[in-house]
Formats: sequence, C-alpha cells, structure tokens
Amino acid sequence: MTTIIPGSTSQALAAALSTELEATLTVPTYDRFPDGETLATVPDFDDDEAIVVASTATNDAHIELLQLQDAVREAGATDTTTIIPYMGYARQDKAFKSGQPISVRAMAKAISTGTDQVFMIEPHEPAVADFFTVPTESIDAAARLADPLSELADPLFVAPDEGAIGLATTTRDAYGSGDVDYFEKERDYETGEIELTPSDAPVEGRDVVVVDDIIATGGTMSGAIGVLNSRGAARVYAVCVHPVLAEAALTKLAAAGVERVVGTDTLERAVSDVTVAPAIATRLTE
Ligand code: R5P
Repeated sequence: MTTIIPGSTSQALAAALSTELEATLTVPTYDRFPDGETLATVPDFDDDEAIVVASTATNDAHIELLQLQDAVREAGATDTTTIIPYMGYARQDKAFKSGQPISVRAMAKAISTGTDQVFMIEPHEPAVADFFTVPTESIDAAARLADPLSELADPLFVAPDEGAIGLATTTRDAYGSGDVDYFEKERDYETGEIELTPSDAPVEGRDVVVVDDIIATGGTMSGAIGVLNSRGAARVYAVCVHPVLAEAALTKLAAAGVERVVGTDTLERAVSDVTVAPAIATRLTE
C-alpha cells in the first residue's frame, strides 16, 4: 500500500498522481499560528509507504514539506519518497558573490533528513540533485509541453538562452516538425537587467514557440516575445515547465504580445495546461 500526501502547493498534481498510481490520497490540514508559524498535519495516515508531493516555491512551502515528511514518519511510515515538482531556490546553486549562501544546498540537506529518496521535475540544473544526501533523481517533463500546441505555421522553437536548448529541442520533437534556435542571454546580477541577442533565424510570418524551464518575473520571456514580434513573427507562444509567474509576469507577457502561455502543473496556475503526473507515475513504476 502507498499513500500520497499533498503539500498545499501541489494538491491537483498529487490527486492526479494518486489516480495514475491507484494509491490512497490522504487529506492533510494546513494551519497557521498567530505568530506566523505553519502547522501541516496528516491526520489519517496509516501506511508503510508514503509519497509526499510538494513544490517549494515559497519559504512556507519548504517548511510545510519538512513538516509533512516528519508527520508521516512519526505516524509509522518506513519508506518515504519525496516528489518535488518545482524545487525552489534551485537558481541559487552557487555563491554568485562573496558572502552568499548556496541556498539550494541548504534546502536539499534539510529535505534529505526526512525522506529515503527524492525526485525533482526538471530542476533548474541537474547538478542540484548532488546536494541531497539521499538518492535523488530528476524527471523530464518537456515531452508533453507540445500537447496544447496545434496547427502551427512553419514553426520555430526558440530557447531564450543556451541552457534551454534541450527543452526547445524536446518540445519540437514532441510537436513533430519545425526548427530550433536560441538567443544569447546576458543578465546583470546587480540590476537584474537582461540583454537578449537573437540569432539570424528568419521569423517573419512564422509561429514561434519560446521554451524555457521557468517563467519567474517574465523578464526573459517578455524580452524574447518582444524581439520576435518586432521581427514579424506571426504568433508567439510562451511555453515553460515551471510557471512561477511572480508579480506582474503574466501582464508583461501580454503586453509583449504573447499569443498563449502554457505551463505544467509543477506549479498550479491558470496556465498549467500540461500535467506531469504521467511522467512521475512512469518513473515511480519503472
Ligand atoms: C534562467 O536561467 C532560467 O532558465 C529562466 O530563464 C529564468 O529563471 C527566467 O526568469 P525571469 O522570468 O525572471 O526572467
């Protein structure tokens, strides 16, 4: 028997995964004390195997994950798997300036203390897995990003920086036709300003799909959309694995002229049209 325990950030995905795996879905409670501390509880857990599914997009979500892991062990779980659909702090995977922490290492160590194994969906860098002290693997989810795209005209799949070329290529392959290209991206770590240098690939009259792992502030994606529209692209789609969509990100994309934004349910947003549940279920049952 296996019981799935959802974090408050991953409720729909956990439910979809329980259907895929024919596992029990338990209902935690998520409370907050007057001083701001959180209390996640798993009242009805009664199993040996636990699968905790929780994205860690906020500080509270990190704490909640640790509490859920601890609660199921306290209730008798002997085998705990932790699924982290979106691993927060993954972009602080090195000290970029003197005095900075490697934040994701700190998070990974803490998460490792409450579990027997970890799976992350498309972490920002695969090497993030090395910071955990229990067996940890990444699961690819890009193959389904093309599912909502249909009838594209002479499509071009663009990575907004070199790091996303693999995602753009996988999405193109899943769509079944089209070219792949990428922009050069420079980010000023003092100001956060982004400079995008497009390649010479012709875009006029073509449908362009910009593919990235994360849309956070929308700065990278809206910059790419603006350049592509100014060069005469027919329609520009913004596709990502993790739709963080912080602050006014969606408005930035709309103002830049995006046709449609598509993300997965690693973060549950209005644009989460693709579920990663089958990819997780497949890996867990391999
Ligand atoms: C950076 O390397 C990532 O792949 C994304 O391009 C970045 O995190 C997007 O951030 P933002 O939406 O704030 O530009």
